[in-house]
Amino acid sequence: MSLAPLTQVRNKAVNPPANKLVSKLVNKQGYQSFQIGQFKFERDEYFAHILYPGNRHIVPIEAFLRALMRDIAWGFFYGTVNFDRVFGTINHYGTVEMFVGLNNTAYRSVHKEYVETFSSKDLKRVFEAVIEDWTNAEFDPFGAPAETGNAYGLKQGDNLKAVQRQRLSAKRMVGLPGDLKMRTEEDGFPVNRAFADVPQDKPELHPAPGFEGQVYAVNLFAHLSRSDVTWNPSVVSVVRDSLLCATTEEFVLPVIHGNDRVEWLVQFSDEIIWDVEDKITGMPACKVIMKPGDVAAMPADIRHCGYSPKRSMLLMWENNDGTLPHRHASGELAPYPVEF
Ligand code: PHB
Ligand code: FE
Repeated sequence: MSLAPLTQVRNKAVNPPANKLVSKLVNKQGYQSFQIGQFKFERDEYFAHILYPGNRHIVPIEAFLRALMRDIAWGFFYGTVNFDRVFGTINHYGTVEMFVGLNNTAYRSVHKEYVETFSSKDLKRVFEAVIEDWTNAEFDPFGAPAETGNAYGLKQGDNLKAVQRQRLSAKRMVGLPGDLKMRTEEDGFPVNRAFADVPQDKPELHPAPGFEGQVYAVNLFAHLSRSDVTWNPSVVSVVRDSLLCATTEEFVLPVIHGNDRVEWLVQFSDEIIWDVEDKITGMPACKVIMKPGDVAAMPADIRHCGYSPKRSMLLMWENNDGTLPHRHASGELAPYPVEF
């Protein structure tokens, strides 16, 4: 069965602003319900219920909050964010499609897929309201399971500090005078238990006379060893459209990411096992086992999910060129980066 490309927007009508559609009613378990367009979101002690015309899709709440947190933090990311094999979002950069069953051959073969288009701003606002209300005090959706509390049960406080984390941008470079500081113990960033063996020494600096205060160097591994989040890449270098994004990973990537361009992965430490599948049908393509120093290009026509049995360090290299999704989808560019 061949399925339509994901760069094509299926339902072009953009649904109305979300603020009129957010409900303040609280259910028996203490949680609010939310609505945007014809989608309704409800939570109980164990599950997120996604209601859409004619049916409902259910996702265990911990997995749902972990995926939702990434979709919000990454601004719907590049291409598709599948929360599971049924529900997700597709970024059209300004608008976003929210779908049930679109990348699922079984749903598509009986025409049970459902898609609506929203302005990215509106959907983000609803998603933020959901994560703020549905995340209890002891749960951090960015935390590794062994390092955070319980996501289940009746409404119990909130964890706005965790779910409203903001990206910090250096003016020029972390560590330069007047710019962002490196992470330290005193600022609440102890070395992670898995990285106790990572040397914390600082690079030696020998700027030429006249360049003192303009040149700096960081120990990136030491910086990463103090990361308090998992599966949340930080942009560590920007050169035109080239974005290098470093991250620490533990347990499962909370989303199955469908690429709309090529992305490169460099395994810095430990091991990640990737399941790679066809982006639309989900047909298995391959397993990629990445060990320290391994480099992989993830093609533009796949989706992938990673498993990190022990906390590991990973570098992603993203190409931010906005023309790429269309050029891949039209066939102008091959899905892979190199012809051997
Ligand atoms: C990816 O989709 O390639 C991805 C996303 C987040 C990560 C790592 C990899 O932390
Ligand atoms: Fe990806």
